[in-house]
Amino acid sequence: MMGQGPAPFLELQGVTKRYPNGTLALTGISLAVGEGEFLAIVGASGCGKSTILRHVAGLVAPTAGRISWSKPPATGGVGMVFQEPTLMPWACIRDNVRLPLDLAKVPRAEADARVTALLAQVGLADFAQAYPRELSGGMKMRASIARALVTRPRLLLMDEPFAALDEITRQKLNDDLLALWREQRFTAMFVTHSVYEGVYLANRAIVMAPRPGRIHADIPLDLPYPRDEALRTDARYAAACRAVSLALADAILRAA
Ligand SMILES: Nc1ncnc2c1ncn2[C@@H]1O[C@H](COP(=O)(O)OP(=O)(O)OP(=O)(O)O)[C@@H](O)[C@H]1O
Ligand SMILES: [Mg+2]
Repeated sequence: MMGQGPAPFLELQGVTKRYPNGTLALTGISLAVGEGEFLAIVGASGCGKSTILRHVAGLVAPTAGRISWSKPPATGGVGMVFQEPTLMPWACIRDNVRLPLDLAKVPRAEADARVTALLAQVGLADFAQAYPRELSGGMKMRASIARALVTRPRLLLMDEPFAALDEITRQKLNDDLLALWREQRFTAMFVTHSVYEGVYLANRAIVMAPRPGRIHADIPLDLPYPRDEALRTDARYAAACRAVSLALADAILRAA
């Protein structure tokens, strides 16, 4: 991965994080992410998955090591979707999704046009005027994804975004997310507890080991895109899920 070829889009080199209370959350995380990749990050609870995303988002600084970019991300260059939809309850969906553009002082007409297009893409065209409380969990998540993508980020970070949704809604959102990824060509880092979800989405799985958090395995997922329902019963999908599950079990056993 290192050496030949263009510099990776994003690179973590020996990233170690000790939180102020003494918890060693990450140790020696080295990870090179190529432009346009879709990474799934899996690992036991507490192994530092969210901490990795927070570092990449620039929300926390590493205790040791460094994070470098082939080109520093501009404002709005990194989008983040949290497990909770985190919408403003007093604002309608259109205003929620437009917020990052308002903060960036994008002219209202242009911002509104972008919000309208994106709401249509995430299937919320008819809910622009609705308030978050009027939406289902899946719809709120769609709105959160629209808000994260409205600045056209080059990198989209997602922290277990669909964990609270039922299976069918989750699968639909997986398909819609892949369609957005193929169209907008952002790079994606997707944290999930579901091996099946991670393998369905990603072209590479990062398996983490806990205590302290570190990378245990980096598994390429050479399944073709576009991916659809047929993949779920494909033997190659089953084999990839098995490889990631085994690595995950191994990571947890070794840490025990
Ligand atoms: N702000 C903080 N201060 C102190 N310790 C923290 C802080 N945030 C996280 N930790 C600790 O760092 C470790 C990694 O936490 P992190 O939230 O990154 O794990 P995770 O892999 O995302 O877990 P989960 O799957 O449960 O979301 C845990 O031991 C956690 O208790
Ligand atoms: Mg987490």
